[in-house]
Amino acid sequence: MRVSRTQEPFSDTDVSTKDEIRIGILGFGTVGQGTWKHLSENAESLERILGVRLEPVRASVRDLSKERGVAIPADRLTTDSQSIVDDPSIDVVCELIGGVDEARELTMRAFANGKHVVTANKALICEHGEELFEAAEKADVRYAFEASVAGGIPIIKVLRESLVANEFPLIYGILNGTSNYILTRMEREGLDFEAVLADARELGYVEADESLDLDGIDAAHKAVILAYLAHGMWFPIEDMSIEGIRRISPEDLQAARELDCKIKLIAVIRRNFENNHVSAGVYPALVPMREVIARTNGVYNGVSVTGTVAGTTVLTGRGAGQDPTASSVVGDVVDIVKSITGAAPPPKLLHVTPNECAPAAAREVTGSFYL
Ligand code: NAP
Ligand code: HSE
Repeated sequence: MRVSRTQEPFSDTDVSTKDEIRIGILGFGTVGQGTWKHLSENAESLERILGVRLEPVRASVRDLSKERGVAIPADRLTTDSQSIVDDPSIDVVCELIGGVDEARELTMRAFANGKHVVTANKALICEHGEELFEAAEKADVRYAFEASVAGGIPIIKVLRESLVANEFPLIYGILNGTSNYILTRMEREGLDFEAVLADARELGYVEADESLDLDGIDAAHKAVILAYLAHGMWFPIEDMSIEGIRRISPEDLQAARELDCKIKLIAVIRRNFENNHVSAGVYPALVPMREVIARTNGVYNGVSVTGTVAGTTVLTGRGAGQDPTASSVVGDVVDIVKSITGAAPPPKLLHVTPNECAPAAAREVTGSFYL
């Protein structure tokens, strides 16, 4: 199968003759391993959809001796991230190391080398988004960041594409899985903060710098990204009122329950259309139980988007963790590959498992719905 796209400045072959797209992964932690795993496990179905094979080829780490949950040949791992962004045979780089300075340098270098970049790094986009988007545009490459907000929920695509006819007076919701997981278990099981935090770490939800999660900063980074998508402005994070969950006690959570509310760490982005002023903040708030957001529990995130045309749409789903986040990364890789191969939208729905399904007989169908 042949694919065609524009010639990249740092490519060793004419890409129009390629039958595979090679992917380099910076960071082989929670998200990096998930991305490698799902690119590998779904290789056949993705090839069926794209007409070209996606090949994860190399990944970088800090410590080669660390045990990894996802096994890859030792010669595919390196401590030299730069060698991945400089590798002329790699077409797409997934930046999954986290942090800001090194991630920024590697991303800029990848762009300069003509590589498309997918990231889950909300801190980086919040701090340097403007510069990075400009650099990607200048280099004529794509910079995709679905995984940076709300894990597996496709909120970026929904705001950019599906709700493009709307303006947004209000976007609010739960944007941090770790905090919501902690509050939910503290409330349901009466556990203390530290015990639940240890479980959240174990599950791969928590940032390397965990104050980002616990002090509301990670949710604020995500709110900045949503505000940019919704209103075209980079909201200064220093002008945001930000508070995390450290001061919430089990007694507060019980008291909220008696008011038929839940305490949730919510991000709120409002626009006043009379003067076009935007406000943004992150803080614990009492949310009435009638709201979907109040019933969004555990690691789930929930985003309520009020659009001027569509009205209110609420999206919920897993906001952190290996698989949901990798789902968003792989989705971005697929979008990029479609754009670089120039694949036109298919005339009919292309499915990953065509011709494999048949209708179930009524006797096979069981469920727990009471009518
Ligand atoms: P992680 O588990 O800590 O993994 C980071 C990986 O990057 C590790 O493999 C680490 O190597 C490697 N690394 C760090 N600095 C490096 C460097 N300078 N050179 C080479 N390798 C380096 O982090 P994560 O949870 O996967 O998060 C990655 C990114 O995704 C972050 O931006 C995070 O905010 C974002 N994100 C995470 C989640 C989630 O649920 N975890 C969800 C959405 C977005 P070692 O393993 O050798 O230490
Ligand atoms: N630490 C983040 C969270 C990961 O708990 O929401 C997902 O961005």
